[in-house]
Amino acid sequence: MRIGVFDSGLGGLSVLREIRRRIPAANLTYLADSAWVPYGARSEDVIRVRSLALSRYLVYHGHDMIVVACNTATAAAVPLLRETFRIPIVGMEPAVKPATAATRSGVVGVLATVGTLQSARFAALLDQFGGDIQVLTRACPGLVEQVEAGELDSELTRALVTQFVAPLVRAGADTLVLGCTHFPFLRPLIETTAGPDVRVIDTGEAVARRVREVAQAAGLQAGERGATNFFTSGDAGASLGALRRLWDDAATLTELPAEYAGRS
Ligand code: DGL
Repeated sequence: MRIGVFDSGLGGLSVLREIRRRIPAANLTYLADSAWVPYGARSEDVIRVRSLALSRYLVYHGHDMIVVACNTATAAAVPLLRETFRIPIVGMEPAVKPATAATRSGVVGVLATVGTLQSARFAALLDQFGGDIQVLTRACPGLVEQVEAGELDSELTRALVTQFVAPLVRAGADTLVLGCTHFPFLRPLIETTAGPDVRVIDTGEAVARRVREVAQAAGLQAGERGATNFFTSGDAGASLGALRRLWDDAATLTELPAEYAGRS
């Protein structure tokens, strides 16, 4: 079984590591669309074009399933991908449902990209699960770039996290949703900033469980440990250091062919 996973950059590695943990036998291919990161401020049209190109690459190379390890791309492109390709497409969305179930203060904070927060999909999520709960949303410009640079604890990263998280906690949020796949890499910093009374919820594990169900339904056999291969639409040299920091020291990174990378 070959599972292809993509994100705007390296953030989706937070989902990939959960998939690797739960489905050791699968061969995993990770595509980082680093030439186009961040997706958060791009139009839905651009994100759709990029999601189609990356998915086409994965389908052409024989993958059995695609995981959109990006909340922003899921909101913009998953229906289109499902119309276009026959293989299963697993997407993700901010964990508003579990957060509204978990809160005791009745106030939940969602950290995500502008694209996710402005999407029709997110509005529908709030309609469905918001109810009496006050859901405060916070776009976090600059934070994705810090993770892309592998700067998980620099002075600037700390300042940005404080700027985004502290007002939510002051407003009474006792539950924070990490609605962007880059943010689990900042979880220790976010938790320290939010304090011990705030619960932080991430979606990676739930997505990995869903991927395993789909893989099992498609007949995935347990077996040897599968391979994990990494590709980028950008400059491999520019992202390799951060990839090794976020994944492991032995990871190698290959550049996608120009036609899939969207480079002219
Ligand atoms: N990691 C992505 C997400 O989950 C997108 C980040 C970005 O490129 O803006 O939304």
